[in-house]
Amino acid sequence: MVDLLVDIHNHILFGLDDGAQNIDETARMARQAVKNGITHIIATPHHKNGKYDNPATVILSRVNEVNNLLQTLEIPLTVLPGMEIHLHGDIVKGLKQSPTDLLTLNQTNKYILIELPYSHIPHFTEEIFYELQLLGYVPVIAHAERNREFQKHPNQLYNLIQKGALAQITAASVTGVFGRELQKFSRRLFKHSLVHFIATDAHNTDRRGFELKSAYEYINLHFSEKHVRYLQENAIKLVNDLDFSVWQPSKFEKRTKFKDLPKPGNLVAFFSNKRKEE
Ligand SMILES: [Fe+2]
Repeated sequence: MVDLLVDIHNHILFGLDDGAQNIDETARMARQAVKNGITHIIATPHHKNGKYDNPATVILSRVNEVNNLLQTLEIPLTVLPGMEIHLHGDIVKGLKQSPTDLLTLNQTNKYILIELPYSHIPHFTEEIFYELQLLGYVPVIAHAERNREFQKHPNQLYNLIQKGALAQITAASVTGVFGRELQKFSRRLFKHSLVHFIATDAHNTDRRGFELKSAYEYINLHFSEKHVRYLQENAIKLVNDLDFSVWQPSKFEKRTKFKDLPKPGNLVAFFSNKRKEE
């Protein structure tokens, strides 16, 4: 098992978005993170999501403030800077004109956390991802499992991953705290090697807290220790701005429709020939 445990998506910085509301809540979240074995958190306040705009300078100074607090309170946790950037048409223009306005994950040269809307995948997503990649960035899709269009058409996620994007899913979805459906869908994404990171996306210590330890336990139980190591090491490589090779994803086959089912007499032959969907 690796020594460092990195949470790459988190709202621990107080007073910037719908995450921690005050300094005490930040401290409580930090203690909960440590209980989950986390050693490093990339703080990713919302940016450009229609409600919150958080300039890089504000985030950087809040990260310093919080790290000083953690030292004073002797909480063994390091907070690193980042941003959860809502996908919008001007990301690439912004990065070209003033790259320091936006924060990549831990200010790496490559990894950038992008939030898609929950309801759909904007038509320009693929084009923006392509342009980001031309500039040397690797888009990391935040909580990919929660997007309703990916849920209905998971091959849309497969296509983006095939083209070089990475996907993060939420620990609470894995453990079932966000409901049975999201847990099932998360498992399908694992089966198809479409998950590269698990992160908490913690906003507080109760309803949207830290589930990382139990999420990894779940993965260990239902998949393997190799999966756990892969996910944990990917996060360490990300935080160090290193390249890493990902597992080859597999495409989702079309589900069988009732009209495709054979007549009763041919059932045995049909099922023995039928390719497994997952
Ligand atoms: Fe988030």
